[in-house]
Amino acid sequence: MRKKIVAGNWKMNLEWNEAQALFHSLLDIQADGVEIVIFPPVLYIGEFVKNSSEAQITIGAQNCFSKQDGAFTGEISAAMVKSIGATHVLIGHSERRTIFNETNELLKEKLRAVISNGLIPVFCCGEELAIRETSKQNEFILNQLEASIGEFSVEELKDLVLAYEPIWAIGTGLTATSEEAEEMHANIRSWLTKKFGEEFANQTPILYGGSCNDKNASELFACPNVDGGLIGGAALKEDTFKKIISAR
Ligand code: PGA
Repeated sequence: MRKKIVAGNWKMNLEWNEAQALFHSLLDIQADGVEIVIFPPVLYIGEFVKNSSEAQITIGAQNCFSKQDGAFTGEISAAMVKSIGATHVLIGHSERRTIFNETNELLKEKLRAVISNGLIPVFCCGEELAIRETSKQNEFILNQLEASIGEFSVEELKDLVLAYEPIWAIGTGLTATSEEAEEMHANIRSWLTKKFGEEFANQTPILYGGSCNDKNASELFACPNVDGGLIGGAALKEDTFKKIISAR
């Protein structure tokens, strides 16, 4: 059985007082069979890790650089994320790809850094609207995955979590229908099977992201190949995030 994961990507939102208030409101969550990860702005990670040891939530970084250390002003390394006690790193979010020009090649190197530092990668993929309008989304997503993940071994990828986030659904209020999400997740899982074998494909969680909220989460999470969600806007409010966590 694959574990269900609900992850909150706070992006560049919430100043310290607001972030603390939201974080503290999540510490009492008790949800059987769900793994909960939050990705706050990196400045807050150390404090949150310290204060979440008794809680069910774990903390991740929204990004890290591909190099281990050195003269890279403004960047943080996977080793730093690990040393502060965080567990996960988001890689390849569409905002990193489009706004910060992160290429498949760079994302492969980031994935290598995350894996070799013993962190759990949450690797994101997703197509633009123009690609879906020409029905090329399946091929496009598999190319993204092949380019960044294809060369790793099953052993290296044993903790991999994937997140399918269609760009046209992120922050727009437009959600993929459960049929569209399931079709893509099944497409990804069959690629994983061909590439890495059935056991690996069956154990790898694939999350859905893109305007997932407390109204549509149950239907999306009920799809056989959707193993939870990567939540943006709806993770910024205690009540909606908690409802999504308890969505079955
Ligand atoms: P959204 O963002 O839920 O606000 O659409 C999801 C994401 O970008 O991870």
